[in-house]
Order: sequence, then C-alpha cells, then structure tokens
Amino acid sequence: MASAIPIRIFDTTLRDGEQSPGATLNMQEKIEIARNLEALGVDIIEAGFPITSVGDFESVRAISQELGRATVAGLARCVPKDIDRAGEALKKAKNARIHVFCATSKIHRTHKLRMPIKRIIELSAQSVEQARGYVDDVEFSPEDASRTELNYLVDITAAAVEAGATTINLPDTVGYAVPAEYGRIFSHLREQLPELDKKKIILSAHCHNDLGLAVCNSLAAIENGARQIECTINGIGERAGNAALEEIVMTLRTRKDYFAKYTTKINTKKIYPVSRMVSTMTGLQVQRNKAIIGENAFAHEAGIHQDGVLKERTTYEIMDPLDIGLPENKLVLGKHSGRHAFGQRVSHLGYTLDKNALDTTFEAFKALADKKKEVYDEDIEVIMDQQLRTGRQLWELVRFQVSSGTGMIATATVVLQDSTGTQRMDAATGDGPIDAVYSAIQRITGVRITLEDYQTRAVTAGKDAQGQASVQVRHNDRKVTGRGHSTDVVEAAVRAYLSAINRIKAFETREVATPTKRGNKKATKTTRRTTRGGKR
Ligand code: KIV
Ligand code: ZN
Repeated sequence: MASAIPIRIFDTTLRDGEQSPGATLNMQEKIEIARNLEALGVDIIEAGFPITSVGDFESVRAISQELGRATVAGLARCVPKDIDRAGEALKKAKNARIHVFCATSKIHRTHKLRMPIKRIIELSAQSVEQARGYVDDVEFSPEDASRTELNYLVDITAAAVEAGATTINLPDTVGYAVPAEYGRIFSHLREQLPELDKKKIILSAHCHNDLGLAVCNSLAAIENGARQIECTINGIGERAGNAALEEIVMTLRTRKDYFAKYTTKINTKKIYPVSRMVSTMTGLQVQRNKAIIGENAFAHEAGIHQDGVLKERTTYEIMDPLDIGLPENKLVLGKHSGRHAFGQRVSHLGYTLDKNALDTTFEAFKALADKKKEVYDEDIEVIMDQQLRTGRQLWELVRFQVSSGTGMIATATVVLQDSTGTQRMDAATGDGPIDAVYSAIQRITGVRITLEDYQTRAVTAGKDAQGQASVQVRHNDRKVTGRGHSTDVVEAAVRAYLSAINRIKAFETREVATPTKRGNKKATKTTRRTTRGGKR
C-alpha cells in the first residue's frame, strides 16, 4: 500500500484569527493557546505579525521560546523592516518560519500597491531572500492569489522559489473562489512549474469564508496538490473567517474512504477543549449549529432520530463525539472537591498553572462553589479566563450600587481602585441600570468609549448559574472586547466594561512605552492601523 501523504496543518488562529473584529488576546492567552495548539498536533503556528505592534512582537517572541516541536511563523510584508522584526521575534524558536506576503491581483496592484507586476515580482524575490538571511524556512504568499492572472501567478511563484521560498501559499484572500476553480490554480502551477515537485516545495491553501466555501476550497486544493492547509480554530478570522481547522481535519478523518491518501498529525480528541479555550479567550461564541463543535452538532431533536441513535449510533451520527474530545459527563466538581481534583480538571481542560496560579484559582473555585452547588467545566473555564486576564489591571471594581425600576431614572454609584491603590467614587444616571453604571465608570476612568455590542448569557444551566456579559466597545479606531462573570448579571456587566477599559489602557501603555526596533513609535501605530483596518 502506498504510504499516506502528510497534510501539514498551519494554524493561524493567533494571527488571522485574532484579526476577527474585537478578538484581541493578551500575551498570556496567546501562549496558553499556542501550547494547546502544539499539543493538538498542529505543524505550524502562525503566532502573529510582529511589525504591527509591540504586543504582537512580544507574543511571537514568547511563543518562540515556549514551543518545542511545532514551527513558529511570523508574518511580514515585503518591507525590509517587517522582515527584520519578524526575524528578531523568531530568534529563539527551535523551528522558525518567516511568512512574507505581497498582493498580486490586478485590483490590489492598481488600487492598493499602485505598482506594476514586474516591480512586485522583484520586491517579492528580494524579500524572500532577505527572510532567508534569518531562517531556512520561508513561506511566500501572493495575496489575493485566486483573483490574480494565472500567468503572473506562475511568474511570481517561480521568482519566489528561485529566491529561496520553501512554501508557496495561494490565498483566497476575499473568499471569492469556488472549489473546482481554486483546485485548478494548484494543478496549473504544478504543470507549469515542474521544479516545484523536484525541489519539494510545499503548496499551501489559505481560504476565507465569505461565500461559506473556505473548507470546500481547502479540500479541493488538497486534491490538486496542496500539502499544507492554513486554518483557524472555530473558523475565526477576518470578516466571515478562515477555513475551520476542525472541519477540515474531521472531514479527512470521517471520509477516510474518499480521502484515503491523506493524513494529518492532529490528535482529534483535543479538538473540543481547544475550541472551548479559543472561544472563551476571544469572547467569540461558537454558533449552536456550527459543524463539529457547535452545541447542537451531536444533538438529536426529532423522535425518529433519537430512536435511531439509541438503537445504533451510526444511523444519524457520522462521527463519534468522543473522537473530538466531547466530554461524556459534564458535571465535575462541588464545594467538597479538593485542590488536587481541581488541579487535575484544570489541566484536563488544557490550562497550565504554576503553584501560585493554582492557589489563586483554587480560592476562586472555592468561592464559586460556595455560591453554586455544582461547578461545571464551563465555570472552571471562566475562572481560568479571569486568571489569565488579571495581572496588572489599571482599574479594579471595589463596589457599586444601582437603583432602577419602572418609571424611575436609573442611578448608579461606583467605586473603583486604580493601580496605585487610590479609590475613586462617582455617580451617574442613565437609560437603565447598565447605562447608568457605565456612565459612572466613564466619569471615573476618563476613558471615552462607545458601546457597540452588549450581550449576556448564562454560562451553565440552573438558577444559580453564572452570567457572562460580553461587551464590544470602540475607542478611537480600535474595537476591543471585554468579558465579565458573576452570579449577579449587573456585576458581570460592570466587570465586562472594566475589562475592556483595562485592555485599552494596556494597549496604550504597550504601544507608547516600547518603541519599534528603529525607535519609531509613530510608525508602529500607523502600521497597525493600516494592516488591521479592514485590509484583508
Ligand atoms: O488572506 C490573506 O491573504 C492572508 C495573507 C497574509 C496570507 O491572510
Ligand atoms: Zn487571510
């Protein structure tokens, strides 16, 4: 039997995924996700876009030091300072890759780059060469490849390979391609450039989901010679998102009869815990009917279906929920559970804790278990989320009081403590209790933000369930999310709002306090704006 063809899984949750509006992650969260992606079996982790901000640079650097087996990739435009910055951030990685990209389609050439194709090809080749000065593993992406004239795509690929690229990624940047057409791009390149196979160049697919075709396009690419798939957990990413890792991997596995030749290194039993972790940390909830990991993915509503599954699971289930790591029994701990049981559950959920962090989180668990009879995995995820988001917070909630009711003007009094330990109190009225409390917080902190989205949900079932409030706020040109939890929903809303304000403050401190390599603070900010502001 012919040996299986490995399909490399390139996860870009921490880069393209983090470009989902509002899905900002802090460094601790990124490290935790990266550890879990490595344990999941991902081959390459795109950890960030180092030039865009000091935060991204530091995260790529920290993840490079943290990982052993998986390759760590950093993104760079075809701009010398981008490549230097990526090279520097990746210095400590055991296996490092610089991913260089440059737009090639006519639309991008005319309106964005305003450069002739000849110059773009030259620039791309020079950039790949520069990246090879730092690492042996260089990926080149002609951005918007699926809308680029095929002859140009052949020319630029040949030039990038000649300059030293080892992976050629063909992004369907705006999710425009349809499967047969996208597949043909791969077969065309392989026909026109036999050196790709000879030099063992890896062709890669990177699909966005604007027409809901990202996974189908990725599969078509595999059938036409792609040996690397770029994807994200839960399919998060710019606009409608990227191809979902779990859907691609589970398709290859479930339809082994059809995709017999291909294999990945993914340990599918870790899919569900990683999916939960990414959803909790980004605040991007997974839709109930999402394939593989949605709440309804294995729920059978119709009586005929339930009857069938009870008689023989495979009548209506094409996958075994245990294969994606869906827990059989959701109830975990209670008020009598000890530290050891708590620690074990935490590590089962994929989190790593040192002794101090275990002490703090165990106390939080005990406090919650006093309020709630049963503590579920989802409650523990909330505790972990809070743990990863705390640290040096500028503003902490001390107490608040609200009065509201029908026919009354809602009034709130809030007391916050700043990082020097000084307490400040203010009061405000509003259009309901949340509005009042948010106005009081704005008065104290002086941070002017616009609330764009506010949602609450119960973390688990039951009347003693914790409430989770999520907010999305806009501050200048940046969207930031915040989350808060409490068994009191107004308190959860207050905590969510404060967490967004603390994040804004943390970004400001990081961007202003640490200059770029060339000491150009302004450049860092501008680059971040232009590269993240709806570019892809
Ligand atoms: O969608 C895209 O084109 C990208 C590139 C940077 C690979 O994300
Ligand atoms: Zn992309």
